[in-house]
Amino acid sequence: MATRRRTLLKVIVLGDSGVGKTSLMNQYVHNKFSLQYKATIGADFVTKELQIGDKLVTLQIWDTAGQERFQSLGAAFYRGADCCALVYDLNVAKSFDSLDNWHEEFLKQANPSDPKTFPFIVLGNKVDIDGGRSRVVSEKKAADWCASNGNIPYFETSAKEDYNVDEAFLTIAKTALANE
Ligand code: GTP
Ligand code: MG
Repeated sequence: MATRRRTLLKVIVLGDSGVGKTSLMNQYVHNKFSLQYKATIGADFVTKELQIGDKLVTLQIWDTAGQERFQSLGAAFYRGADCCALVYDLNVAKSFDSLDNWHEEFLKQANPSDPKTFPFIVLGNKVDIDGGRSRVVSEKKAADWCASNGNIPYFETSAKEDYNVDEAFLTIAKTALANE
């Protein structure tokens, strides 16, 4: 008989304030979306169970504050992470430019044993806005950044329209699992 194994995967979601980190998580875990913005203070997690192959996976997804004054996370918080999701708003250039900082900061704080192979994923969110006409970061620019930072998987998502959200989190779980 196949043995069933349960695996807990810790995922940290980072990115500038307002890019949609909380919204992506709410859509994924609760199938809910609200246009009202409520800043995340500190950090909190939700969990979701997934079956991947013969493995029962519990994704523990940590939502964090993008606003600097609400960030109060020490290195202890990042340690033990299995994957880091970097989120930007593809209609806001600055949020894309910030990816370097979030990426660097995560590696500095989490201090993984092999920073070069640590699983990241990048999400370009709010692809729904104006049917894509107001986007300022091209798919190529984002893909190039991901390629030059160790072939990070890239998804364009909409928390509002539930586009690519399940796919993105499934990839998060799979890449984290592959690195176990
Ligand atoms: P902080 O908690 O401050 O770090 O922000 P956040 O990254 O958690 O952003 P949040 O999920 O709170 O979303 C910010 C605003 O963008 C809210 O008004 C959301 O309704 C809106 N929003 C989030 N995702 C989408 C999306 O995919 N499309 C559209 N049109 N709006 C979105
Ligand atoms: Mg939030």
